[in-house]
Amino acid sequence: MESDRGESFADLLPPLATEELAALKADIGEHGVLCPIFVDENGKILDGRHRHAIDPKAPRKVIKGLSPAEKQAFVFRTNFVRRNLSPDQKHVALRKMKGVAFALRKEDAKKNTQAQVAKLLGVAQPTVASWFSDTSSISSDNACNPRPDARVKVNPKVKPVIADRVAAGESQTQVAADYGVSQQTVSGIVAAETAKQQKGADRAKAAAMAEATIKGDDCGVKIGDFREVAETLESGSVDLIFTDPPYDRDSLDLFEALGIVAARVLCDGGSLVTYFPQYLLPEVMGGLGQQLRYWWTLAVVHSGARTRMREYGIIVGWKPLAWFVKGTRGDKQTWIDDVVVSAQEKDAHDWQQSVIEARHCIARLCPAGGLVWDPFCGGGTTAVAAKQTGRLWLTCDTDDAAVHLARKRIHDAAVAAVAEERTDAADGSQEC
Ligand SMILES: C[S@@+](CC[C@H](N)C(=O)[O-])C[C@H]1O[C@@H](n2cnc3c(N)ncnc32)[C@H](O)[C@@H]1O
Repeated sequence: MESDRGESFADLLPPLATEELAALKADIGEHGVLCPIFVDENGKILDGRHRHAIDPKAPRKVIKGLSPAEKQAFVFRTNFVRRNLSPDQKHVALRKMKGVAFALRKEDAKKNTQAQVAKLLGVAQPTVASWFSDTSSISSDNACNPRPDARVKVNPKVKPVIADRVAAGESQTQVAADYGVSQQTVSGIVAAETAKQQKGADRAKAAAMAEATIKGDDCGVKIGDFREVAETLESGSVDLIFTDPPYDRDSLDLFEALGIVAARVLCDGGSLVTYFPQYLLPEVMGGLGQQLRYWWTLAVVHSGARTRMREYGIIVGWKPLAWFVKGTRGDKQTWIDDVVVSAQEKDAHDWQQSVIEARHCIARLCPAGGLVWDPFCGGGTTAVAAKQTGRLWLTCDTDDAAVHLARKRIHDAAVAAVAEERTDAADGSQEC
């Protein structure tokens, strides 16, 4: 009796994408099933599960006498070239084919020479030779260990859509087929998106608690777009802008807008120091250089784990700080080292920078009692550094949660500073 499901072979290759299946349906509707469904002697489908799903009465052809591994090889031989697989899907299929090659060898090492295995799987003999010389990805039971191909990138905007489809009950295998990625990639995306949503919910809760604690004190952190907040600042009133705009290409226009605002609010000889990504150097320098004078680039050297930028083939060990001035640098007597060794701090914001370089620059580029402005507050690092170095500060952000959490962080830093002063004073009185 024929099985309708062919379950042991169905998942060797990904299903057709939804659009491909619709096209096949339309074709079968018009011309009928032209290619028969291949089944083994037990009725299990070796090839044609989609044709069978569309027309269960489609003609069948029985393939007899194949061993279990030969049946799997048949599936790959008839589909691997014919199917329009993405690089990620091919990568996974090839790893499975490697597992089948070893299974063929195990079944009959004498008969299944490299040439015979290549013929059964429909691949070149050197491919089979390379598989047999590298056993690293074959587990003990000869099953393959498919890992998604790191070259295949999923558009970040599509990731929530993928997670939503899976949450709505669609199978990961089908969603993977629709996006031309492996099922492992989809399950990784689902896990990451779920964690992101949870993190967002936790952050919103923490922000609400922070807001309740601060009770109306804005701690020098305004909510809003920096261009609007800048309108509340008098021309020439800021000594130093120390900041960190978002890094993505879509935010590039913020750098140009920042240059325009900085040229107005900075005092003569005042500085703008900003983080920027190396890959946007020409655009950032060009944008800011229209309004201000380029002065120098400082290097912030990472002390922790290094990021690998695969698309550039670079292990990143430092990040730049671009330094521009309005007019010319007012105070050249104060020396500043252009290399700062930093530390990783990520407890206040996803894109948080360390207070180390903020303090380094504020202490040398802003006079005592002067005003530091950070138009892109994030976790409030600049404000904390300004407080620690005895400067005034003002900062802002468009993200409400970031603002509430930054206010709380600044508030806590101020409380800690008072406690420290008291301890120092107490220690001093004991020494007398
Ligand atoms: C890279 S983060 C800053 C991180 C910060 N340096 C820290 O150490 O936590 C950039 C911040 O800019 C904010 N932002 C983006 N566009 C903005 C705008 N037009 N005006 C004000 N803030 C903005 C984002 O919400 C984000 O919090």
